Amino acid sequence: MNMNALVINCSPVKTGATAGIVKLVSEKLSSVYNTKSICIDDYDFKFCKGCRICHNTAECVMTDDIPLIMSEFEQADIIVSVSPSYWADIPGQFKAFIDRCTPWCNTHDPHLTISSGKKGYSIALRTGPGMKECERIIQSIEHFYGHLEIECCGKLGLCSVECRDDVEPRKDEITAFCEKIPACHC
Ligand SMILES: Cc1cc2nc3c(=O)[nH]c(=O)nc-3n(C[C@H](O)[C@H](O)[C@H](O)COP(=O)(O)O)c2cc1C
Repeated sequence: MNMNALVINCSPVKTGATAGIVKLVSEKLSSVYNTKSICIDDYDFKFCKGCRICHNTAECVMTDDIPLIMSEFEQADIIVSVSPSYWADIPGQFKAFIDRCTPWCNTHDPHLTISSGKKGYSIALRTGPGMKECERIIQSIEHFYGHLEIECCGKLGLCSVECRDDVEPRKDEITAFCEKIPACHC
């Protein structure tokens, strides 16, 4: 087994519903991938200031944990981002991370790159009943993947999930999603 999976808890809550889904997905993937899970809240980073210096230098003027997160991306063959809806959007901490990935954004040159061939999966969850809001979260994640040239390979929306106890009854849906992730993307 030499392929790596990275599963990201995009919520600042380390013990909540998102963390429960991350745990299930990680357990499922670990039978075929070397699997690592991280939480966005494990890292310390500042907000993007919008200075655009990185558009010309491919380098951020700030020094913090962003390169640590990106080294986890670099090591992964597949990336699964699991994000709750906060006010019908991704949590601020996750958005702040994405903004800070501007040095890696393929819309300007020079830009940093992670190695090619990575596959991205998206899982959105929310308390409310409508799937449209999950789609919006998934769109944000897939937009981010697109600019890092991570191929979007699968998505799952989970409505009516408020807390960790709501995850167990959805285990079959989450397992079925994981089973669609190929054991080898070669
Ligand atoms: C600040 C905040 C805003 C939220 N906004 C929404 C929302 O707009 N729509 C919704 O369906 N759920 C919303 N929720 C509920 C979360 O999506 C839901 O509880 C999810 O399971 C939280 O997972 P977590 O505890 O792992 O972060 C919100 C929760 C929080 C804390």
